[in-house]
Amino acid sequence: MPRLARSVENVPHSRIRELAEIAMSMDGVLRLYFGESNLPTPGYIKRAAIRALEDGYTFYTENAGLPTLRRAIAENYRRLHAVELDPAGEIVVTASGVQALNVAIRCALDPGDEALVLTPAWPNGSSSVAMANAVARQVPHPLAGDRYGIDFDALEAAVTPLTRLLLYTSPSNPLGWVATAEEQQRLLDFARRHGLWLLADEVYDRLYYAGARLGDPVPSILRKASRDDAVVVVHSFSKSYCMTGWRVGWLVARRDLAAKATQLNEFIISHAPSFAQKAGETALAEGEDELARMLERLKENRDLCLDALGGARGAARGLTVPRPDGAFYLFPRIEGLEDSFAFCRRLLEETRVGLAPGVAFGAGGEGSVRICYAAERAILEPAMERLVKFLQKNPGAGFH
Ligand SMILES: Cc1ncc(COP(=O)(O)O)c(C=O)c1O
Repeated sequence: MPRLARSVENVPHSRIRELAEIAMSMDGVLRLYFGESNLPTPGYIKRAAIRALEDGYTFYTENAGLPTLRRAIAENYRRLHAVELDPAGEIVVTASGVQALNVAIRCALDPGDEALVLTPAWPNGSSSVAMANAVARQVPHPLAGDRYGIDFDALEAAVTPLTRLLLYTSPSNPLGWVATAEEQQRLLDFARRHGLWLLADEVYDRLYYAGARLGDPVPSILRKASRDDAVVVVHSFSKSYCMTGWRVGWLVARRDLAAKATQLNEFIISHAPSFAQKAGETALAEGEDELARMLERLKENRDLCLDALGGARGAARGLTVPRPDGAFYLFPRIEGLEDSFAFCRRLLEETRVGLAPGVAFGAGGEGSVRICYAAERAILEPAMERLVKFLQKNPGAGFH
Protein backbone atom coordinates (compact mmCIF):
# COMPACT_ATOMS: atom_id res chain seq x y z
CA MET A 1 0.00 0.00 0.00
CA PRO A 2 1.50 3.40 -0.90
CA ARG A 3 1.46 5.70 2.09
CA LEU A 4 1.22 9.46 2.41
CA ALA A 5 4.48 11.40 2.28
CA ARG A 6 6.09 11.80 5.69
CA SER A 7 6.49 15.51 5.02
CA VAL A 8 2.73 15.99 4.84
CA GLU A 9 2.00 13.59 7.70
CA ASN A 10 4.20 15.90 9.79
CA VAL A 11 2.07 18.97 9.10
CA PRO A 12 -0.03 19.51 12.22
CA HIS A 13 -3.77 20.15 12.14
CA SER A 14 -4.94 23.66 12.94
CA ARG A 15 -6.36 23.67 16.45
CA ILE A 16 -8.35 26.81 15.61
CA ARG A 17 -10.11 24.74 12.94
CA GLU A 18 -10.62 21.88 15.40
CA LEU A 19 -12.45 24.17 17.82
CA ALA A 20 -14.34 25.83 14.95
CA GLU A 21 -15.58 22.48 13.71
CA ILE A 22 -17.12 21.72 17.11
CA ALA A 23 -18.66 25.21 17.14
CA MET A 24 -20.10 24.82 13.64
CA SER A 25 -22.04 21.76 14.73
CA MET A 26 -23.80 23.88 17.39
CA ASP A 27 -26.54 26.52 17.12
CA GLY A 28 -26.37 30.10 18.34
CA VAL A 29 -22.59 30.36 18.76
CA LEU A 30 -21.05 33.85 19.08
CA ARG A 31 -18.14 33.24 16.71
CA LEU A 32 -14.95 35.03 17.66
CA TYR A 33 -12.55 32.24 16.71
CA PHE A 34 -11.73 33.10 13.09
CA GLY A 35 -9.68 36.08 11.94
CA GLU A 36 -12.36 37.93 10.04
CA SER A 37 -15.16 40.37 10.64
CA ASN A 38 -18.75 39.55 9.84
CA LEU A 39 -18.96 42.65 7.65
CA PRO A 40 -19.44 41.87 3.98
CA THR A 41 -17.02 43.15 1.34
CA PRO A 42 -17.87 46.84 0.67
CA GLY A 43 -20.21 47.48 -2.27
CA TYR A 44 -17.70 49.51 -4.30
CA ILE A 45 -15.37 46.48 -4.42
CA LYS A 46 -18.15 44.07 -5.35
CA ARG A 47 -19.28 46.41 -8.12
CA ALA A 48 -15.69 46.59 -9.42
CA ALA A 49 -15.60 42.78 -9.65
CA ILE A 50 -18.91 42.69 -11.52
CA ARG A 51 -17.62 45.36 -13.92
CA ALA A 52 -14.43 43.36 -14.40
CA LEU A 53 -16.40 40.22 -15.25
CA GLU A 54 -18.44 42.18 -17.78
CA ASP A 55 -15.29 43.75 -19.21
CA GLY A 56 -13.85 40.32 -19.94
CA TYR A 57 -11.50 39.69 -17.01
CA THR A 58 -12.34 36.01 -17.19
CA PHE A 59 -9.14 34.80 -18.87
CA TYR A 60 -5.68 33.81 -17.64
CA THR A 61 -3.39 36.64 -16.53
CA GLU A 62 0.39 36.89 -16.03
CA ASN A 63 1.80 34.56 -13.34
CA ALA A 64 2.89 37.66 -11.38
CA GLY A 65 -0.58 39.17 -11.68
CA LEU A 66 -2.04 41.95 -13.83
CA PRO A 67 0.54 44.67 -14.52
CA THR A 68 -2.10 47.29 -13.64
CA LEU A 69 -2.55 45.75 -10.17
CA ARG A 70 1.21 45.52 -9.62
CA ARG A 71 1.50 49.20 -10.55
CA ALA A 72 -1.31 50.02 -8.11
CA ILE A 73 0.52 48.11 -5.35
CA ALA A 74 3.77 49.98 -6.13
CA GLU A 75 1.85 53.27 -6.01
CA ASN A 76 0.41 52.23 -2.63
CA TYR A 77 3.92 51.71 -1.20
CA ARG A 78 5.02 55.07 -2.63
CA ARG A 79 2.06 56.86 -1.04
CA LEU A 80 2.04 55.09 2.32
CA HIS A 81 5.71 54.36 2.91
CA ALA A 82 7.70 56.53 0.46
CA VAL A 83 9.22 53.29 -0.86
CA GLU A 84 9.95 52.92 -4.58
CA LEU A 85 9.33 49.45 -6.01
CA ASP A 86 9.63 48.07 -9.51
CA PRO A 87 6.21 46.60 -10.32
CA ALA A 88 7.75 44.44 -13.06
CA GLY A 89 10.44 42.83 -10.92
CA GLU A 90 9.78 43.17 -7.21
CA ILE A 91 6.03 42.57 -6.77
CA VAL A 92 4.15 39.29 -7.27
CA VAL A 93 0.38 39.08 -6.93
CA THR A 94 -0.67 35.86 -5.22
CA ALA A 95 -3.93 34.05 -4.56
CA SER A 96 -4.00 35.26 -0.91
CA GLY A 97 -1.62 36.10 1.88
CA VAL A 98 -1.22 32.47 2.82
CA GLN A 99 -0.18 31.59 -0.73
CA ALA A 100 2.35 34.45 -0.67
CA LEU A 101 3.74 33.03 2.57
CA ASN A 102 3.80 29.52 1.19
CA VAL A 103 5.55 30.32 -2.10
CA ALA A 104 8.06 32.64 -0.38
CA ILE A 105 8.99 29.89 2.07
CA ARG A 106 9.20 27.37 -0.77
CA CYS A 107 11.62 29.70 -2.59
CA ALA A 108 13.84 30.26 0.45
CA LEU A 109 14.15 26.84 2.10
CA ASP A 110 15.60 23.52 1.02
CA PRO A 111 14.52 20.27 2.66
CA GLY A 112 16.19 19.97 6.06
CA ASP A 113 16.76 23.72 6.41
CA GLU A 114 15.61 25.49 9.53
CA ALA A 115 13.46 28.59 9.93
CA LEU A 116 13.15 30.71 13.04
CA VAL A 117 9.55 31.69 13.67
CA LEU A 118 8.54 34.28 16.24
CA THR A 119 5.51 32.94 18.10
CA PRO A 120 2.76 32.92 19.29
CA ALA A 121 1.85 33.27 15.64
CA TRP A 122 -0.78 32.30 13.14
CA PRO A 123 0.09 28.61 12.64
CA ASN A 124 0.21 28.72 8.83
CA GLY A 125 3.79 30.05 8.79
CA SER A 126 5.24 27.10 10.70
CA SER A 127 3.04 24.69 8.73
CA SER A 128 4.27 26.12 5.42
CA VAL A 129 7.83 25.53 6.64
CA ALA A 130 6.89 21.90 7.39
CA MET A 131 5.33 21.57 3.93
CA ALA A 132 8.68 22.62 2.43
CA ASN A 133 10.28 19.68 4.28
CA ALA A 134 12.05 22.14 6.54
CA VAL A 135 11.97 22.62 10.30
CA ALA A 136 10.38 25.54 12.18
CA ARG A 137 12.21 26.58 15.37
CA GLN A 138 9.73 28.64 17.32
CA VAL A 139 11.03 31.44 19.51
CA PRO A 140 8.37 32.95 21.80
CA HIS A 141 7.82 36.67 22.24
CA PRO A 142 8.38 37.35 25.95
CA LEU A 143 5.75 39.36 27.82
CA ALA A 144 7.28 42.14 29.91
CA GLY A 145 4.64 44.05 31.87
CA ASP A 146 1.83 44.29 29.37
CA ARG A 147 3.94 44.54 26.19
CA TYR A 148 5.37 41.72 24.16
CA GLY A 149 8.98 42.04 22.98
CA ILE A 150 11.60 39.99 21.13
CA ASP A 151 14.08 37.78 22.94
CA PHE A 152 17.16 38.44 20.79
CA ASP A 153 19.33 36.21 23.01
CA ALA A 154 16.96 33.33 22.39
CA LEU A 155 17.06 34.08 18.65
CA GLU A 156 20.87 34.00 18.68
CA ALA A 157 20.83 30.74 20.61
CA ALA A 158 18.40 29.17 18.13
CA VAL A 159 20.60 29.79 15.07
CA THR A 160 22.33 26.68 13.69
CA PRO A 161 24.33 26.10 10.49
CA LEU A 162 21.02 25.02 8.90
CA THR A 163 19.11 28.23 9.67
CA ARG A 164 18.06 30.08 6.50
CA LEU A 165 15.07 32.25 7.37
CA LEU A 166 13.42 34.28 10.09
CA LEU A 167 9.65 34.84 9.98
CA TYR A 168 7.91 37.47 12.05
CA THR A 169 4.42 38.98 11.95
CA SER A 170 3.80 42.64 12.70
CA PRO A 171 1.10 43.56 13.58
CA SER A 172 0.85 40.12 15.09
CA ASN A 173 -1.91 37.60 14.91
CA PRO A 174 -2.70 36.69 17.73
CA LEU A 175 -0.84 39.22 19.91
CA GLY A 176 -1.68 42.56 18.34
CA TRP A 177 1.99 43.35 19.01
CA VAL A 178 3.65 45.77 16.58
CA ALA A 179 7.42 45.78 16.11
CA THR A 180 9.00 49.12 17.07
CA ALA A 181 11.42 50.85 14.66
CA GLU A 182 14.27 49.65 16.87
CA GLU A 183 13.01 46.06 16.89
CA GLN A 184 12.68 46.13 13.09
CA GLN A 185 16.24 47.41 12.74
CA ARG A 186 17.56 44.72 15.08
CA LEU A 187 15.69 42.00 13.18
CA LEU A 188 17.15 43.27 9.92
CA ASP A 189 20.67 43.46 11.39
CA PHE A 190 20.26 39.96 12.85
CA ALA A 191 19.16 38.56 9.48
CA ARG A 192 22.03 40.32 7.66
CA ARG A 193 24.61 39.12 10.20
CA HIS A 194 23.50 35.47 9.96
CA GLY A 195 22.82 35.52 6.22
CA LEU A 196 19.10 34.76 6.62
CA TRP A 197 16.03 35.62 4.62
CA LEU A 198 13.87 37.98 6.64
CA LEU A 199 10.20 37.21 5.96
CA ALA A 200 7.84 39.88 7.30
CA ASP A 201 4.13 39.15 7.42
CA GLU A 202 2.57 42.62 7.18
CA VAL A 203 -1.00 41.66 6.27
CA TYR A 204 -2.38 43.73 9.17
CA ASP A 205 -0.28 46.86 8.53
CA ARG A 206 -3.34 49.08 7.89
CA LEU A 207 -5.07 47.95 11.10
CA TYR A 208 -2.99 50.13 13.40
CA TYR A 209 -4.20 52.20 16.33
CA ALA A 210 -0.99 53.79 17.59
CA GLY A 211 0.05 55.89 14.59
CA ALA A 212 0.09 59.69 14.59
CA ARG A 213 -3.30 59.51 12.82
CA LEU A 214 -5.81 56.67 12.64
CA GLY A 215 -5.30 55.31 9.11
CA ASP A 216 -1.50 55.62 9.17
CA PRO A 217 0.02 52.22 8.40
CA VAL A 218 2.61 50.48 10.51
CA PRO A 219 5.90 51.48 8.85
CA SER A 220 6.92 48.63 6.53
CA ILE A 221 10.28 46.89 6.96
CA LEU A 222 10.79 47.94 3.31
CA ARG A 223 11.50 51.47 4.58
CA LYS A 224 14.62 50.14 6.31
CA ALA A 225 15.74 47.42 3.92
CA SER A 226 17.58 48.06 0.67
CA ARG A 227 16.23 46.38 -2.45
CA ASP A 228 19.28 44.07 -2.36
CA ASP A 229 18.46 42.80 1.13
CA ALA A 230 17.12 39.26 1.44
CA VAL A 231 13.77 40.60 2.62
CA VAL A 232 10.30 39.39 1.66
CA VAL A 233 7.06 41.06 2.71
CA VAL A 234 3.78 39.18 2.42
CA HIS A 235 0.48 41.00 2.20
CA SER A 236 -3.20 40.50 1.48
CA PHE A 237 -6.47 42.20 0.61
CA SER A 238 -8.31 40.00 3.12
CA LYS A 239 -8.12 42.04 6.30
CA SER A 240 -8.08 45.71 5.29
CA TYR A 241 -10.86 45.37 2.72
CA CYS A 242 -13.05 42.55 4.17
CA MET A 243 -12.05 40.32 1.23
CA THR A 244 -11.19 37.05 2.99
CA GLY A 245 -13.12 34.94 0.49
CA TRP A 246 -11.63 36.58 -2.60
CA ARG A 247 -8.16 35.10 -2.22
CA VAL A 248 -5.89 37.87 -3.43
CA GLY A 249 -2.62 38.94 -1.84
CA TRP A 250 0.91 39.84 -2.87
CA LEU A 251 4.54 39.63 -1.98
CA VAL A 252 7.39 42.10 -2.35
CA ALA A 253 10.84 40.57 -2.57
CA ARG A 254 14.38 40.80 -3.85
CA ARG A 255 14.28 40.32 -7.62
CA ASP A 256 15.62 36.77 -7.69
CA LEU A 257 13.01 35.50 -5.23
CA ALA A 258 10.22 37.47 -6.93
CA ALA A 259 11.17 35.95 -10.30
CA LYS A 260 11.23 32.44 -8.89
CA ALA A 261 7.92 32.90 -7.04
CA THR A 262 6.41 34.11 -10.32
CA GLN A 263 7.62 30.99 -12.09
CA LEU A 264 6.44 28.66 -9.30
CA ASN A 265 3.04 30.33 -9.33
CA GLU A 266 2.50 28.76 -12.74
CA PHE A 267 2.67 25.31 -11.17
CA ILE A 268 0.70 26.07 -8.01
CA ILE A 269 -2.15 28.44 -8.84
CA SER A 270 -1.03 30.07 -12.14
CA HIS A 271 -2.32 33.38 -10.80
CA ALA A 272 -4.99 34.94 -8.61
CA PRO A 273 -8.50 35.11 -10.14
CA SER A 274 -8.51 37.78 -12.87
CA PHE A 275 -11.66 39.67 -11.86
CA ALA A 276 -10.67 39.54 -8.17
CA GLN A 277 -7.36 41.19 -9.10
CA LYS A 278 -9.29 44.01 -10.79
CA ALA A 279 -11.44 44.40 -7.66
CA GLY A 280 -8.23 44.63 -5.61
CA GLU A 281 -7.05 47.48 -7.82
CA THR A 282 -10.24 49.38 -6.99
CA ALA A 283 -9.85 48.60 -3.27
CA LEU A 284 -6.39 50.21 -3.27
CA ALA A 285 -7.52 53.22 -5.27
CA GLU A 286 -10.80 53.97 -3.50
CA GLY A 287 -10.65 52.22 -0.14
CA GLU A 288 -9.42 54.91 2.24
CA ASP A 289 -12.80 56.26 3.44
CA GLU A 290 -14.24 52.83 4.12
CA LEU A 291 -11.00 51.77 5.81
CA ALA A 292 -11.14 54.83 8.08
CA ARG A 293 -14.68 53.90 9.14
CA MET A 294 -13.64 50.33 9.82
CA LEU A 295 -10.67 51.46 11.91
CA GLU A 296 -12.88 53.67 14.08
CA ARG A 297 -15.16 50.73 14.69
CA LEU A 298 -12.32 48.30 15.39
CA LYS A 299 -10.70 50.67 17.85
CA GLU A 300 -14.00 51.03 19.71
CA ASN A 301 -14.40 47.26 19.73
CA ARG A 302 -10.89 46.81 21.07
CA ASP A 303 -11.56 49.27 23.88
CA LEU A 304 -14.91 47.66 24.67
CA CYS A 305 -13.19 44.27 25.11
CA LEU A 306 -10.31 45.74 27.10
CA ASP A 307 -12.80 47.43 29.44
CA ALA A 308 -14.86 44.28 29.82
CA LEU A 309 -11.83 42.15 30.66
CA GLY A 310 -10.25 44.86 32.82
CA GLY A 311 -13.37 44.58 34.96
CA ALA A 312 -12.86 40.85 35.27
CA ARG A 313 -9.24 41.16 36.31
CA GLY A 314 -9.87 40.79 40.03
CA ALA A 315 -12.42 38.02 39.79
CA ALA A 316 -10.39 35.99 37.31
CA ARG A 317 -7.28 36.27 39.49
CA GLY A 318 -4.30 37.02 37.30
CA LEU A 319 -5.85 37.81 33.95
CA THR A 320 -3.23 39.74 31.96
CA VAL A 321 -4.54 41.55 28.89
CA PRO A 322 -1.70 43.09 26.84
CA ARG A 323 -2.95 46.18 24.99
CA PRO A 324 -2.73 45.50 21.27
CA ASP A 325 -1.60 48.29 18.92
CA GLY A 326 -2.60 46.54 15.72
CA ALA A 327 -4.62 43.78 14.00
CA PHE A 328 -7.97 42.83 15.58
CA TYR A 329 -7.20 40.39 18.36
CA LEU A 330 -6.83 40.32 22.11
CA PHE A 331 -4.71 37.59 23.61
CA PRO A 332 -5.41 37.56 27.35
CA ARG A 333 -3.22 35.33 29.44
CA ILE A 334 -5.05 33.46 32.17
CA GLU A 335 -2.85 32.59 35.10
CA GLY A 336 -2.98 28.91 35.97
CA LEU A 337 -4.43 27.91 32.60
CA GLU A 338 -2.66 24.83 31.25
CA ASP A 339 -5.14 23.54 28.69
CA SER A 340 -6.50 26.37 26.58
CA PHE A 341 -8.27 23.93 24.25
CA ALA A 342 -10.24 22.41 27.15
CA PHE A 343 -11.01 25.93 28.38
CA CYS A 344 -12.33 27.05 24.96
CA ARG A 345 -14.33 23.87 24.56
CA ARG A 346 -16.07 24.26 27.91
CA LEU A 347 -16.63 27.96 27.33
CA LEU A 348 -18.23 27.06 24.01
CA GLU A 349 -20.40 24.29 25.43
CA GLU A 350 -21.53 26.24 28.49
CA THR A 351 -21.89 29.75 27.07
CA ARG A 352 -21.91 29.43 23.25
CA VAL A 353 -18.90 31.78 22.98
CA GLY A 354 -16.31 30.55 20.49
CA LEU A 355 -12.69 31.66 21.03
CA ALA A 356 -9.43 30.30 19.60
CA PRO A 357 -7.23 28.38 22.06
CA GLY A 358 -3.78 29.90 22.65
CA VAL A 359 -2.15 26.51 22.12
CA ALA A 360 -3.01 26.82 18.40
CA PHE A 361 -0.40 29.57 18.02
CA GLY A 362 2.72 27.63 18.92
CA ALA A 363 5.38 28.18 21.57
CA GLY A 364 4.28 30.70 24.18
CA GLY A 365 0.60 30.43 23.23
CA GLU A 366 -0.63 27.95 25.83
CA GLY A 367 -2.21 29.66 28.82
CA SER A 368 -3.93 32.31 26.67
CA VAL A 369 -6.99 32.53 24.44
CA ARG A 370 -7.49 34.63 21.31
CA ILE A 371 -10.51 36.89 20.93
CA CYS A 372 -11.15 38.33 17.48
CA TYR A 373 -12.86 41.67 18.08
CA ALA A 374 -13.76 42.36 14.45
CA ALA A 375 -17.35 41.21 15.05
CA GLU A 376 -20.31 43.59 15.41
CA ARG A 377 -21.06 44.99 18.85
CA ALA A 378 -24.31 43.00 18.93
CA ILE A 379 -22.10 39.89 19.04
CA LEU A 380 -19.15 41.26 21.00
CA GLU A 381 -21.11 42.69 23.93
CA PRO A 382 -22.95 39.50 24.95
CA ALA A 383 -19.82 37.46 24.23
CA MET A 384 -17.72 39.57 26.61
CA GLU A 385 -20.46 39.45 29.24
CA ARG A 386 -20.61 35.65 29.08
CA LEU A 387 -16.81 35.28 29.05
CA VAL A 388 -16.44 37.50 32.11
CA LYS A 389 -19.12 35.52 34.00
CA PHE A 390 -17.42 32.28 33.02
CA LEU A 391 -14.05 33.57 34.26
CA GLN A 392 -15.66 34.69 37.51
CA LYS A 393 -17.21 31.27 37.99
CA ASN A 394 -13.85 29.62 37.33
CA PRO A 395 -11.31 31.73 39.22
CA GLY A 396 -7.74 31.04 38.22
CA ALA A 397 -9.29 29.32 35.21
CA GLY A 398 -8.97 25.93 36.89
CA PHE A 399 -8.15 24.07 33.70
CA HIS A 400 -5.11 22.02 34.63
C1 LIG B 1 -0.79 36.78 10.16
C2 LIG B 1 -1.57 36.40 8.95
N1 LIG B 1 -0.93 36.31 7.79
C3 LIG B 1 -1.57 35.98 6.67
C4 LIG B 1 -2.91 35.72 6.67
C5 LIG B 1 -3.50 35.31 5.37
O1 LIG B 1 -4.64 35.88 4.95
P1 LIG B 1 -5.25 35.45 3.55
O2 LIG B 1 -4.71 34.12 3.19
O3 LIG B 1 -6.72 35.44 3.76
O4 LIG B 1 -4.83 36.50 2.58
C6 LIG B 1 -3.63 35.74 7.88
C7 LIG B 1 -5.04 35.37 7.95
O5 LIG B 1 -5.59 35.12 9.00
C8 LIG B 1 -2.93 36.11 9.04
O6 LIG B 1 -3.55 36.18 10.22
